[in-house]
Amino acid sequence: MALECVPLSDALGAEVRGLDPRRPVSGPDREMLIAAWREHLVLILRGHALTDAQLIAFCRVFGELDPPGPNPYGAPFLSEFPELNVISNVVQDGKPIGGLGAGEAVWHADMTYQDVPPKAGVLHALEVPDSGGDTHFANMVAAYDTLPGGIKEQIDDRILVHDAAHNSAGQLRKGYDETTDVRQTPGARHPLVRTDPDTGRKALFPGRRPHAYIVGLAVEESEALLDVIWQHAAEPRFAIAHHWRVADTVIWNNLCVLHRRDPFDSSARRVMHRAQIKGDHPVT
Ligand code: SIN
Repeated sequence: MALECVPLSDALGAEVRGLDPRRPVSGPDREMLIAAWREHLVLILRGHALTDAQLIAFCRVFGELDPPGPNPYGAPFLSEFPELNVISNVVQDGKPIGGLGAGEAVWHADMTYQDVPPKAGVLHALEVPDSGGDTHFANMVAAYDTLPGGIKEQIDDRILVHDAAHNSAGQLRKGYDETTDVRQTPGARHPLVRTDPDTGRKALFPGRRPHAYIVGLAVEESEALLDVIWQHAAEPRFAIAHHWRVADTVIWNNLCVLHRRDPFDSSARRVMHRAQIKGDHPVT
């Protein structure tokens, strides 16, 4: 069966069919997959359970792996595969087997508090709850394109501070203090509007809302402008929701897409193995 990408919505996303991610992906299939990831921004493969080694090999189709952020418990969740992260609410023998728990994860892109953030995120589902825990993805190219001209003018040359102190569940990372003044937010500074070097397309690059700050503006002005941008970026017309099945793999463009996760029943089990692909250069 030939590789086929079936669009999932007008906003973004495609399901990849006719490709077995457990086997080496090379030649025209590799080129087609990367081209589809650039075009559709989110790719979904269903029904292929992957071992950790197979997941890593598949991720390498898109580039070198970027290690996870600092582990809140001081050691990788998967000692044999430290390049993978575990996202889970499961607690075994009194110890969480992964991060982020069962709560909501608000809209964000991953690790944008780094000078060179990962260009792609990958999640592979090992165990999923019957309901809840859906992951939503929003297209920031479309969000930028549809901003009113006056807002574009206000943000085109602006730099945003991306908070390094909290994870996407809002928990304070080890080694950081809470700050109440967003001008003191620690983290990388990136253009609020980035141009994708591969496609030339402009995209909003808002990272995450809490603790963000637009450099050079009064705090009230920064807050007001960020509220307008986030209200727009989070409009449902730019987004899809992914309801997980075991053995799904999702790869998204971390620099053109935001994601968020619905909360789920904490007594249900959800286990995802996760990788990210190193960015090629600083955000421009
Ligand atoms: C994340 O925010 O990176 C995790 C998303 C998810 O658990 O679906």
